[in-house]
Amino acid sequence: MRSLISIFDLTVPEIDELIETAKDIIANPDEYAEKCRHKKLATLFYEPSTRTRLSFEAAMLELGGSVLGFSEATSSSAAKGESVADTAKVISCYADIIAMRHPKEGAPFVAAENADVPVINAGDGGHNHPTQTLTDLLTIHREKGSLHGFTIGFCGDLRYGRTVHSLIYALSRYEDINVVLISPTELRLPGNIKKKYLKEGSFRETHSLEEALPSLDILYMTRIQQERFPTFEEYLKLKDSYCLDTDKLCLAKETLTIMHPLPRVNEISVGVDKDPRACYFKQALNGKYIRMALILKLLEEAEKDRAYHPDTDYIVDNTLRCDNSKCITSIEQELQHKFRLTDPENGVYRCIYCERQTSKN
Ligand code: NCD
Repeated sequence: MRSLISIFDLTVPEIDELIETAKDIIANPDEYAEKCRHKKLATLFYEPSTRTRLSFEAAMLELGGSVLGFSEATSSSAAKGESVADTAKVISCYADIIAMRHPKEGAPFVAAENADVPVINAGDGGHNHPTQTLTDLLTIHREKGSLHGFTIGFCGDLRYGRTVHSLIYALSRYEDINVVLISPTELRLPGNIKKKYLKEGSFRETHSLEEALPSLDILYMTRIQQERFPTFEEYLKLKDSYCLDTDKLCLAKETLTIMHPLPRVNEISVGVDKDPRACYFKQALNGKYIRMALILKLLEEAEKDRAYHPDTDYIVDNTLRCDNSKCITSIEQELQHKFRLTDPENGVYRCIYCERQTSKN
């Protein structure tokens, strides 16, 4: 049985297939209205959300299914100290598929290891947000006609923004894409992501949105992620780093596509909403269609293959600890400390939950 924890759980042809299904749903909604009759989706949201949770719920309802769940940790047994593993086992008794958002990195992975139904990661800390990525890919495909041959600028909080990280992972598998990283120094894209997913010569970094704008085919604006800063003072210093307004838009191509995963705070002025290049509300709508396609696919697969196939490509080593304070292992003491040996020569390991690098030496 398959879950979606990272965008790499889907192959490129599978992503293409999901995009095609989403387009077919848009063209023929009635044909899909009964596809999930008697199926239930559980939305387990330990962190705030509007679009992601409600688009999952709307997706399941439009497929003829039902939804149950909670929208804050305080209204679940997590408030009594229940582990993610136990919650996943229990919810498997009540629902056919789970969508989970959690502030700790790797929590949906733990859920997938323990659930008897497919688990979809709806955002884990600053780590991954694969269904936003599918939403973004569908939006790019609908606006630009393909998933290659463009220059995309990511602007804002590239350090903590999980939607940026996940979309960069996804785009690394397509050809002929140039990336412009626009951020203050403090919020630059983490070095390991740059090194692993951006090819030499295919990206550049700048502080200036004005300087980058004329070269862009797509601008992906992001919110400064207040909740992920170590202190509020650090957030205050950076919160107004960028604001796209109608004056700045004069510098951009007529064919620019402006995206934003939303919510926006003040990084795009409302005046921009009327500009035909503004795509962020269409993007939010696309999120419902691609989630319909994903729910259908995972439920169909689960129907065929009920067995759980554990990932055995890891070691358990009690002399090693993940030192990421945002990893799920930092709050759940019962979890085994699992690692992948990524560089045997230098004794470098990666935590299986949050992917933080650690070493024996
Ligand atoms: C994003 C998220 O939760 O990471 N929102 C979303 O899912 N649409 C972006 C954000 O919160 O800034």
